[in-house]
Amino acid sequence: MSQPYRIALAGLGTVGVGVAKILKAHAEAIARKAGRPIEVVAVSARDKSRNRGFDFSDVTWVEDASTLVNEDVDCIVEMIGGEGGVAKTLAESSLAKGLDFVTANKALLAHHGYELAKVAEGNNAGLMYEAAVAGGIPVIKAIREGYAANDIGAVYGILNGTCNYILTEMRKSGRDFKSVLADAQKLGYAEADPAFDIEGTDAAHKLCLLTALAFGVKPDFKKLAVKGITNVTSVDIEFARQLGYRIKLLGMARKEGNAIVQSVEPCMVPRKSTMGAVDGVFNAVYIEGDFVDTGLLVGRGAGEGPTASAVVADIIDLARGTKLPVFGVPYSDLKEANWGRRGKVESQFYLHLRVMDKPGVLADVSATLRDCDVSIEAMLQQGRDPNNPVSIVMTTHEVQQKQVEEALEGFANLERVLEKPSMMRIEDF
Ligand code: HSE
Repeated sequence: MSQPYRIALAGLGTVGVGVAKILKAHAEAIARKAGRPIEVVAVSARDKSRNRGFDFSDVTWVEDASTLVNEDVDCIVEMIGGEGGVAKTLAESSLAKGLDFVTANKALLAHHGYELAKVAEGNNAGLMYEAAVAGGIPVIKAIREGYAANDIGAVYGILNGTCNYILTEMRKSGRDFKSVLADAQKLGYAEADPAFDIEGTDAAHKLCLLTALAFGVKPDFKKLAVKGITNVTSVDIEFARQLGYRIKLLGMARKEGNAIVQSVEPCMVPRKSTMGAVDGVFNAVYIEGDFVDTGLLVGRGAGEGPTASAVVADIIDLARGTKLPVFGVPYSDLKEANWGRRGKVESQFYLHLRVMDKPGVLADVSATLRDCDVSIEAMLQQGRDPNNPVSIVMTTHEVQQKQVEEALEGFANLERVLEKPSMMRIEDF
């Protein structure tokens, strides 16, 4: 068998240890697949003395991960995280030296993916990131290779396991957002800073990479509209149930003419759709291609095993000698996207208003909707209390988002509409 493929692991958290475990448990089968053994020769982590449940005593330990590039290795596997700092320095220096680089770091690539692709491709180094998007689901491979024959029209996904877990548990248990978030942290699904999960940033990093791959454009995180799940209430979840929907945080990118419209936001999806049934920490990615039609990939989006499985798949590919353009086409062919305006997107919408339950309030609300040319499909009211605010919700027929936004501004002028009304897109899969 050929020379071993020598790797260094930067970061020995959950995923780093998971990678070492898989490489050991399946060493023989992996060597047969890769055509050569894969050896971990160096590692870097902050605390050497910590018990990680795996014996790293026979490999070189390095305190400063950025020096791993000086070890005698073919590939650096980065599982440190973070948009900049050591992860970025290490990526730049490894790729500049022609070393392969595997990362689970979506923030790094969403912000610096184009520059890193340029360094990688310029130095004939592989840069792989399957674990960065949707954990164990091989979605990068699917879009870059499996769907390569197609002109892709849309990529939608449940891209954050923590949010999906929280929304699912809120629905099933009726518990509030905060207590369910604490569970997600205990289970190791949430990012170190859970704000990245619940405010939609993590899903947006992932969508940014999917958009670049699917449409052959430069990844541009700044062009993404992002809304997380912090304002989704138990009341919204209950109304969604009554209306036959489930709430999911979706990352969505779609071609509209020659523009690309993309956003991350909580949406209602039909309860009976396949996407609606994707619960808990599971992720799902829906892809529309002109010849293949539609496809849906579902799997675990977070956690040690699934994420490490994706990292090891990349290592095997690189050990085989597979080197592909980072975003599906050579970096020099990636286009500047023409980003379309979300306001023009047509969809059905869900509106939630808190109103004083007095005669005439609905007439005022309907008049505002009429003035903005928004047509109502259904309406529900929760409770009946003339002295206290009650919730009313509506679903609209298909309408441009900007018309609904205008109506929301109009509601702010109505005396009996209390608090700021909320809206959510309804996505029909
Ligand atoms: N925190 C992420 C999630 C997992 O909840 O999906 C890693 O991307």
